[in-house]
Amino acid sequence: MYVCLCNGVTESAIHRAAQAGIRTLGELAMSTGCSTGCGSCSEVAEEVLRDAVAGPAVHHRREWVAA
Ligand code: FES
Repeated sequence: MYVCLCNGVTESAIHRAAQAGIRTLGELAMSTGCSTGCGSCSEVAEEVLRDAVAGPAVHHRREWVAA
């Protein structure tokens, strides 16, 4: 799924960036270009990055809360 349409940055790319040590939106922008166009993806990109850094436990917890 694309997170940043302006720069073609996918959710997978953000996960890979997190695995490579990216921790902030600024670092993500520098490494992938995410959020450097219109900026409308910034909030979602930050959330995806935060979840990627936190790891799978966050996803499980969200699913559990939503269910
Ligand atoms: S959608 Fe990411 S900068 Fe426009």
